Amino acid sequence: MGRRVFIPIDPLMQSSIEQIRHQADEEVLSVHDASALEAFRVRYLARKGSIAALFDSLKALPAEQRPGIGKSVNELRVHVQSLFDKASASLVVAAPSASTIDVTLPGRHAFLGSRHPLTQTLDEIKRIFGGMGFTIADGPELEDDYHNFGALNFPPNHPARDMQDTFFVRPNVLLRTHTSPVQIRLMEQQQPPLRAIMPGKVYRNEAINARSYCMFHQVEGLCVDTGITFSDLKGTLVAFIKEFYGSSLKYRFRPTFFPFTEPSADIYITCFLCHGKGCRVCKQFGWLEILGCGMVHPNVFKSVGYDSEKFTGYAFGMGIERIAMLRYGIDDIRLFFENDIRFLEQFT
Ligand code: PHE
Repeated sequence: MGRRVFIPIDPLMQSSIEQIRHQADEEVLSVHDASALEAFRVRYLARKGSIAALFDSLKALPAEQRPGIGKSVNELRVHVQSLFDKASASLVVAAPSASTIDVTLPGRHAFLGSRHPLTQTLDEIKRIFGGMGFTIADGPELEDDYHNFGALNFPPNHPARDMQDTFFVRPNVLLRTHTSPVQIRLMEQQQPPLRAIMPGKVYRNEAINARSYCMFHQVEGLCVDTGITFSDLKGTLVAFIKEFYGSSLKYRFRPTFFPFTEPSADIYITCFLCHGKGCRVCKQFGWLEILGCGMVHPNVFKSVGYDSEKFTGYAFGMGIERIAMLRYGIDDIRLFFENDIRFLEQFT
């Protein structure tokens, strides 16, 4: 290790350094615009500025003095650079005026709405029956006992009239429990031939849970003409099922009872979740009921003044929620009516 020698800093250089520091400290206070800032930079920091000149004059010093003075000059450079940076930053912050628009910012996203899954399902049903020549008819949700029950051949003491199932508004005025009363209203207004579907809301006084709701949607269908037979019903509904669910699907008709049709049937399709093996959705049955139907009962024709010796017809009805739930794998009917955007945006 060599000896440590104290080397005094050149007094002339030292005073130049201090003088420049002092000047820069003063001058930066009057930098209020871009051109003053640039002048400041040119005077001190540029290649021909006073600090570069100090670095140049280092070369003329005796070698042993260079490191010490070089360090001081460097400290000066760092100091003046920071004065410049601060002045520059305060100019940038002050610069934008109220009218400035930053065109480089990402744009605001416009959210696109979508059709409700029930609307999508109903639109598809309308499209298919429309293609087979069915028109669309409409009726009131607030009905009287006669249109909802009596004219549809419900005997006076039928359990469906019970307060348990039906919302009565007043005696004889109720929220319709199915779309079948629209059949009656249509036939009261029109003579055969007629072929129409009738979508709409229906109401039932049921506990609300994952499987049932106090309000839901149905699509009714009615076709009346001379010579309409059960094979017309079958041909039409099978054509619908194949188009809606796919042509490879298995289906079956099972006899059932409705007061307003005779004979009556429920149509089932193979459970598309388990392909008939039995699962939670089909309740281990292998089949899913999707539609009720039948030949219009002569008593119904009598209610509307149609000659049941001359005319025959078929009718059918299906629940739209049920169909949409099966179609999209939705396991809770309440989701349709909560309008949760996280649910709805899955159907865009
Ligand atoms: N109205 C019946 C129901 O709500 C469905 C149906 C309509 C059945 C037309 C046969 C004919 O379940």
